[in-house]
Amino acid sequence: MKKVFVKSYGCQMNVYDAERMADMLTTEGYAETKAMEEADLVILNTCHIREKAAEKVYSELGRVRELKKERQTHGQETKIVVAGCVAQAEGKEILRRAPAVDVVVGPQNYHNLPELLRKARSERVVDTEFPIEDKFDHLPKPSKAMIRNRGVSSFLTIQEGCDKFCTFCVVPYTRGAEVSRSVSKIVDEALRLADAGVRELTLIGQNVNAYHGEGPDGSIWSLGKLLHRLAEIPGIARLRYTTSHPRDMDDELIAAHRDLPALMPYLHLPVQSGSNRILDEMNRKHTGDEYRRLIERIRKAQANLALSSDFIVGFPGETDAEFEDTMRLVADVGFASSFSFKYSPRPGTPAAEMGLQVPEAVKAERLARLQNLLETQRQAFNRGTVGQTLDVLLEKPGRHPGQMAGKSPYLQAVQIETDCHHIGDIVTVRITQAGSNSLFGEVVKPGNQAAA
Ligand code: 5AD
Ligand code: SF4
Repeated sequence: MKKVFVKSYGCQMNVYDAERMADMLTTEGYAETKAMEEADLVILNTCHIREKAAEKVYSELGRVRELKKERQTHGQETKIVVAGCVAQAEGKEILRRAPAVDVVVGPQNYHNLPELLRKARSERVVDTEFPIEDKFDHLPKPSKAMIRNRGVSSFLTIQEGCDKFCTFCVVPYTRGAEVSRSVSKIVDEALRLADAGVRELTLIGQNVNAYHGEGPDGSIWSLGKLLHRLAEIPGIARLRYTTSHPRDMDDELIAAHRDLPALMPYLHLPVQSGSNRILDEMNRKHTGDEYRRLIERIRKAQANLALSSDFIVGFPGETDAEFEDTMRLVADVGFASSFSFKYSPRPGTPAAEMGLQVPEAVKAERLARLQNLLETQRQAFNRGTVGQTLDVLLEKPGRHPGQMAGKSPYLQAVQIETDCHHIGDIVTVRITQAGSNSLFGEVVKPGNQAAA
């Protein structure tokens, strides 16, 4: 049996895509391996969102090329595939710069991999066209055993692409225009996952709350309505969604945070900056105060909300005072977790052409200050859960024998002293301690058992 090694970089969409590629190649007679050295097929599923993404891929390809040569001396062939957003952005350039690469395939085309690999026996191939057909229709369904292997919490892609064109972002170029999958296809996939033992679904998409898929009645469904439908599926106890845009938080979605017990009290809602001028330059189409008011409305619907965000410091032209606006917004709103980055110019995006790029040292200093504040807030949030009783979904064995590890409703990792429960159970836990990266707790009530 031939072996395939998939290395994925970047966001959850890439994790999901990497799994789909692995599913598909299993039906083509490949077994997945975690060791690149023994792989007959190496796939790098790349990310283009920040930093010198393309350069990193080229240097990784240098290493894979050495491996290919080494295996060749033992008479073993290795095919190399570059997939994902760098593949989409660089296309043919990859074949020119990396002679060892056999196939370049964009995120919309990986369902063609079997055919591309057949072609690659005699020539090097690139497939980065945006196809008309839906790649998900062409992907094989993973077996129950494969789903189970991946755990009780699963990603499910419900939309792809983005029409927002934030001036710093490559996504609208690499992933294309916003496309939503139909409700029936999403429900079918969710039913299959639930049937294999999945308890938690995280609905994913580049701009997931812009979801507007065709419903079974022919009308267009919003994310709020879709969440209600998915909450009815037996076995599915928890729902989450990521990543969202503030402009697409509609009333129905906010109401779902109040009305749907399965919808976890956690929201990743990137704000990027607290300065109105920078938000405008970023083309975010909202102000800092609009974001504050929106969060107030969502917290009215779900008082326990754990809020998470992305931030960019050092966007072109950002002054000290404008950076302070971001610090103030963070202090006003309060975040349970977050991701923050130095602005990095992405070729082809409007912001990369803007004057007044902020010096690296200034970006570094701002990032350190922001991360300090965000880390203080994260720890305060975690400490605030000590003494509370929370439902924990058990996901895997814990760090030590007699322990299990799971997630709280707020997406915190929790270590629990227990050996009489199963993966997939949701147990009620009293949180006893907050460590730097996980909480510790004891079971007070077995709670909701997973189906055997
Ligand atoms: N520079 C820095 N951060 C960026 N992000 C997207 N593009 C850039 C860029 N050019 C960040 C944003 C986004 C997250 C996924 O990555 O904060 O929300
Ligand atoms: Fe990029 Fe998100 Fe803005 Fe879309 S909404 S352009 S994915 S940052």
